[in-house]
Amino acid sequence: MSADKTPLTADEIRQAVAVVRRDGGLGADAWFETVGLDESGRAGDQRAAYVCCYEPSRNRTFAGRVLFEADRLDDWRHVEGVQARIPPDEFEMACRLAREDPEFVAALARRGVDDPSRVLIESWSAGNFGLPEEQTRRIAYGHCWLMNDAGDNPYARPIANLHPVFDLGAREIIRIDDFGAVPIPPDPGPIRRPHQRDDARPLSITQPEGPSFAVDGYRVRWQDWELQVGFSPRDGLVLHDIGIRDGDRLRPLMRRASLAEMVVPYGDPRGASFRRNAFDTGEYGIGVALDSLRLGCDCLGHIHYFDVCSHDWTGEPRPIDNAICMHEEDFGIGWKYSVPAAGQTTVVRSRRLVVSSIATIGNYVYGFFWYFYTDGTLGVEVKATGIPFPSALDGGKASPWGRVIGDGIESHVHQHAFSFRFDMALDGERNSASEVNFRAAPSGADNPHGNAVLTDETVFARELDAQREIDAASARYWRVFNPNVRNRFGEAVGYKLLPGANAFALQHPDSPVGRRAAFMYKHFWVTRHDPDELYPAGWFPNQHPGGDGLPRWTAADRAIEDTDIVVWHTLNYHHWPRPEDWPVQPVVYAGFHWMPDGFFDENPTMDAPRG
Ligand code: NI
Repeated sequence: MSADKTPLTADEIRQAVAVVRRDGGLGADAWFETVGLDESGRAGDQRAAYVCCYEPSRNRTFAGRVLFEADRLDDWRHVEGVQARIPPDEFEMACRLAREDPEFVAALARRGVDDPSRVLIESWSAGNFGLPEEQTRRIAYGHCWLMNDAGDNPYARPIANLHPVFDLGAREIIRIDDFGAVPIPPDPGPIRRPHQRDDARPLSITQPEGPSFAVDGYRVRWQDWELQVGFSPRDGLVLHDIGIRDGDRLRPLMRRASLAEMVVPYGDPRGASFRRNAFDTGEYGIGVALDSLRLGCDCLGHIHYFDVCSHDWTGEPRPIDNAICMHEEDFGIGWKYSVPAAGQTTVVRSRRLVVSSIATIGNYVYGFFWYFYTDGTLGVEVKATGIPFPSALDGGKASPWGRVIGDGIESHVHQHAFSFRFDMALDGERNSASEVNFRAAPSGADNPHGNAVLTDETVFARELDAQREIDAASARYWRVFNPNVRNRFGEAVGYKLLPGANAFALQHPDSPVGRRAAFMYKHFWVTRHDPDELYPAGWFPNQHPGGDGLPRWTAADRAIEDTDIVVWHTLNYHHWPRPEDWPVQPVVYAGFHWMPDGFFDENPTMDAPRG
């Protein structure tokens, strides 16, 4: 396995692009979907790039490695029957195509819009609905809005029922789907406001002696935690080699952790709305969409920023300064104990290290926050904000699938389904996973008062056993443990995955989006480690018919006990938009925790400074 997990530099991106241009056998029109760190391990200790290219003239996708030291391609191949992600550059190209298309301009004129330059057209993946003409072309569906004059809300005024349909490979509009004009909502949805309240006095966070973390490149030490910050144009923020110091030992927990996929299926079946199923990671890319964060706005306190380098579709490096934020937060009391009779109270503070990044993907903004707590807990939190996808009211009232959130505006029910991937390594590579359920003990001689409660722990032997759902009735959680390492009570050392607020996917599993996002139907999956298995809907979800990723890999039903395993956690939440979400949505939080569960021999914060 390659030891160096440092994100690619601008020079490395340039070199990888040059090697592909020189030796890749591609036409001059080919563009670069991904130039990122190769994590396959197949290059041994050599540093390598994973590169994926799309060649529009022949509608072909290529992928492989560039070995930097050897300055050559490795395992470069045509990947049959797939479509690369849609990069931001292609969105811009499609927007320009539509604004110049006479039929589209005429459709705008019928709606009273005479300036196409004020219309935003986003080209979303068409998905895959089995239509023959869409199987062999790079199809995208346009959604249109009239931008507001202030320039601060491009989604202010939805233009309903008008959808240019693109062949992005041919770089042309193949038709305009017009399901009939609907009045364009009048609300300009301004986000800037002339008056802001002035009664919030300064709130300063100071660390007069500096922060408690130490940074060496992308490697971080904080309290007992050690980790390496990484980046992928697709996943965005990646964390490598997470470990925790316990006395003299650095005890590994995870080799790699990231948001591996997410999908946002919308619930309106009409017109072209059923097409809205955004796989933001696999169809568009989180990493390429990371914001440059600003001190005092995105982040407060003593911040360390990590810069990363993305690229545009020509392969030109695109540095993202301040892409990843790291700081410490006080987190209230850590623990407390009082002995009133003795007049003694002991209390310690809790603190957490926060590593985060924020991606702007069209109307939505997602913050991905990783929290490392002093007690060994690792928290993962998504902060969802931005503008809920607005549509125009058809017929003056809301549809059954939408809610009125602005003047003439409805926003449709949708779900956000996040899949987090954890390459586990608790005290070594050989781990197992189990499920714990609470249950009432049967009444009887052993339980005469009906108060007895039992817990059942079931160890998963094979992959098909380990595809599980949350269950509030049994307070279900999952554990990962190392059967070869024991705590002082003789138990295998473990961590538990404690779900947070979560939900079930409601799209039919055999629907087009259900087949493509099978990961969202189970909250917990375990797979046997394979470095090629990074993305739960497969490497190429764009226009994919479905079945790739987790369902395909786990069909082999590999043994997962006492071996190198990967845990996948699905976090679903349903969004029925509120008037309060317009014109911009206050952050909605969703997350979960990994907590030490017999990993340590006692409370690991007994050495915390006493107050
Ligand atoms: Ni939402």
